[in-house]
Amino acid sequence: MRHSHPIEPRAAIGELVGSRIRAVANAGLGQPDVLPFWFGEPDAVTPQFVRDAAVAALADGATFYTSNLGITPLREGLARYVGALHGASLDPERIAVTSSGMSALMIAMQALIGPGDRVVVVTPVWPNLTEGPRILGADVVRVALDCVAGVWRLDVERLLAALTADTRVLLLNSPNNPTGWVIDASRQRAILEHCRQLGIWIVADDVYERIHFGQGAVAPSFLDMADAQDRVISSNSFSKAWQMTGWRLGWLVSPRGADGATLIEHFGKLIEYNTCCAPEFVQRAGLIAIEQGEVVIEATLARYRAARDHLCERLSRLPGITAAAPAGAMYIFFRVDGVSDSLELCKALVREAGLGLAPGAAFGGEAEGYVRWCFASSHERLDEGIARLTGFLERRRTKAA
Ligand SMILES: Cc1ncc(COP(=O)(O)O)c(C=O)c1O
Repeated sequence: MRHSHPIEPRAAIGELVGSRIRAVANAGLGQPDVLPFWFGEPDAVTPQFVRDAAVAALADGATFYTSNLGITPLREGLARYVGALHGASLDPERIAVTSSGMSALMIAMQALIGPGDRVVVVTPVWPNLTEGPRILGADVVRVALDCVAGVWRLDVERLLAALTADTRVLLLNSPNNPTGWVIDASRQRAILEHCRQLGIWIVADDVYERIHFGQGAVAPSFLDMADAQDRVISSNSFSKAWQMTGWRLGWLVSPRGADGATLIEHFGKLIEYNTCCAPEFVQRAGLIAIEQGEVVIEATLARYRAARDHLCERLSRLPGITAAAPAGAMYIFFRVDGVSDSLELCKALVREAGLGLAPGAAFGGEAEGYVRWCFASSHERLDEGIARLTGFLERRRTKAA
């Protein structure tokens, strides 16, 4: 007898749109001489001392499963690190180590979000933050930042109005991918106070907190002002601060209620059913990164600041392009006059100019017409990218004339 059942996933997954950043990158796969700036990663490999730590851990036989929540020295190291950054003492029992920032976000979402829950997300944003809740069956409400003369701002009153009593979770990423927007402490306080009143969870995606160009060693964070009892989860990663994108290591900070309850036990169960644990040799290298990495972060920030200013200045010279220097993260998110289909533009840029950029549309409808360029590169590489973009735009203009 022939089978006639359709081969298809459940509806929410069938409707899921694949990442448009990946769609552009996939279009360039196998094409020689593409200069990629589409992903959020540097052109430099992970610092040598971190790689050495992983090699030493492997030589030492660190090839086994660990506790779901991570090895104790790393949880303790992270508690010291996060506590020092955010001016509070933090119990390692509130930390869970995860296999990447993405996995940390998904674990937090799985712990909090169910079908039909209202989830508010500040956008434009890395698509994984809006698609994660959708995979879990949530209703996602987008609150868009405004862009004035290239600078992105949050209308906090509009956000508070969207954070209704039936909202389960607010997801907020600052410094923001793709816009580089960084929330200020006074807006954060207003949001925290509002969510506190209504019992709304805040999941703060803090992966770019060390890449901000303002004062101090870290961007403003909900962790600076939240009590341990507040319904605030911080999600973080080793990828950006220590240039460890391929290592897949991250962590979560859980609140602790007045009765001592945390989400850690539940995170542990979810980690078991997702990845079981992060690899031990990676965790051991991560510990060395946070213990010895401050000089690297300082040097990286100086390099990124120079790259940001260089690229912004070069982009601004091009006709039809509006670019502003972002306050944080590692992207220039610029507007191209006359572009209404950024995906088409980015695919053509790969095909015709060998230049890999990410389309604004990947980050939401409100970001259509924009393009994201990761500036974590040498000036020479950025200049070569600018030359390719310039040639491409000239050819398009000639063709249109
Ligand atoms: C906003 C944001 N959150 C989380 C992540 C996750 O980083 P990873 O999964 O590499 O740790 C990224 C990576 O690009 C990001 O841009």
